[in-house]
Amino acid sequence: MGIYVRLFLIKNDKMAEELNKEIARRRTFAIISHPDAGKTTLTEKLLLFGGAIHVAGAVKSNKIKKTATSDWMEIEKQRGISVATSVMGFNYGDYKINILDTPGHQDFAEDTFRTLTAVDSVIIVVDAAKGVETQTRRLMEVCRMRKTPVIIFVNKMDREGRDPFDILDELEKELQINVRPLTWPINMGARFKGVYNIYEQGLDLFTPSKQTVSERIEISDVSSPKVDELVGEADAAKLREDLELIEGVYPEFDANDYLAGDTAPVFFGSALNTFGVKELLDCFVKIAPAPRPIQAVEREVRPEEEAFTGFVFKIHANMDPNHRSCIAFVKICSGKFERNVNYRHVRNDKMMRFAAPTAFMAQKKNIVDEAYPGDIVGIPDTGNFKIGDTLTGGEILHFKGLPSFSPEMFKYIENADPMKQKQLDKGIHQLMDEGVAQMFTNSFNGRKIIGTVGQLQFEVIQYRLLHEYGAQCRWEPISLYKACWIESDDEEALAAFKKRKHQFMAVDKEGRDVFLADSNYVLQMARNDFPKIKFHFSSEF
Ligand code: G4P
Repeated sequence: MGIYVRLFLIKNDKMAEELNKEIARRRTFAIISHPDAGKTTLTEKLLLFGGAIHVAGAVKSNKIKKTATSDWMEIEKQRGISVATSVMGFNYGDYKINILDTPGHQDFAEDTFRTLTAVDSVIIVVDAAKGVETQTRRLMEVCRMRKTPVIIFVNKMDREGRDPFDILDELEKELQINVRPLTWPINMGARFKGVYNIYEQGLDLFTPSKQTVSERIEISDVSSPKVDELVGEADAAKLREDLELIEGVYPEFDANDYLAGDTAPVFFGSALNTFGVKELLDCFVKIAPAPRPIQAVEREVRPEEEAFTGFVFKIHANMDPNHRSCIAFVKICSGKFERNVNYRHVRNDKMMRFAAPTAFMAQKKNIVDEAYPGDIVGIPDTGNFKIGDTLTGGEILHFKGLPSFSPEMFKYIENADPMKQKQLDKGIHQLMDEGVAQMFTNSFNGRKIIGTVGQLQFEVIQYRLLHEYGAQCRWEPISLYKACWIESDDEEALAAFKKRKHQFMAVDKEGRDVFLADSNYVLQMARNDFPKIKFHFSSEF
């Protein structure tokens, strides 16, 4: 073997080793919760532990939810903040942690769903007093569908909540997942004394503090009299009793069940008081998965493959309406991403290089030269990218996105300024590519219908069309129950159905057939009358 070949092989080995090391230390996840359960507070405390921020209160939550929906200036401002908090990266010990923010407002659920395509695991925050709420339930459905490993943090134990065993039962029932407590609260509310760390077998006592971290007390055995001294006899006895019950009722924690998405470890604490958070973080980095293989249409892509691949999971419009530039968020799936290297934009079949990709550390955006699987890079863009686009070193690959779900609300969109038809068309298409809402075109009359999961999205679309495209739109009511994607093995049956229901047929952005059912009753009747047609509430089946 020639010296150059040998040197080349050694260099290659070194690069592979470096890549593997970087992959193994990455943890990319999202925190999801119903608004107000404490997601922002928990995120902030995690950043505090990672040294990414130094005082609590530095992360401002996505407070759109707390402003009136018509307060557009505020929303514009928030869009700036939410770029900064979209991804927060920090180092914790040997680990590189990437937290992907999910918008807290219920109306932005679609955006949240899509963020879940870019994470390797999820932490769910539940308010101890309120239990499982609607938005959490819906997001959990997506986790279940994708078999995403889930950890649950039961927050606000410093308030009077429900009995922790009842909470566990509710989590199991409502989220349809097995649970296994890994910490256990000692009393609650004003009498909340701390948590016993079942995973590490230690006691963490509670000294309420919004800024600092409480001391950890090592105890080797819960039967030790030291526990009585520390928490009082009554609470110590209750703790021993509870722990015995837990051991009897819940099977021993098995990290493989967690990784398979079958069991969710549960932690108790109070994010506001920085309590139970370190236990969560320490266990999280140990058990949560590093970047995993991702299924593309063509094949499975492993993170340790040498060639770079990635996909766009989110597009953030710029705040400056005069320069219609965006940031495309790319999740790196394999290989090393490098600045100024040519990559293939598969959908456009075009080679592109990026001079100013940004990475997100703490709350800052910095230009980066390289990034690894699990990392997110932000690429400034002027309309080249759509959600779901794949970038590769050259191979033709298509990563599967999240299917579209039937919207909950529908309205016809009409042009309110005949001079600006072109601007309106362009604006609608770009906003749909950005994933703001879904559009269906009625096959019967050609009218465009916008479907959303909440009223606020209509207002956002109208506002942005005007401010970014100079186009005016008007909404007209349409009473619809669901959009169903239809298919059949029987061409004739499909044609007959489409003919009979021609007034209610539409196509989605991808040109797929969609039946617009105006009531549940109509849908049931259609199902009965056309048994050969399959009706789906999501676009992938
Ligand atoms: P979110 O991002 O999930 O919407 O929730 P966020 O963290 O903004 O928390 C919602 C409210 O709950 C905040 O109060 C926050 O201070 C409070 N909170 C979070 N964790 C705990 C906890 O462990 N115990 C208690 N008692 N409260 C907690 P706020 O008054 O709405 O906002 P702020 O003015 O305090 O920021």
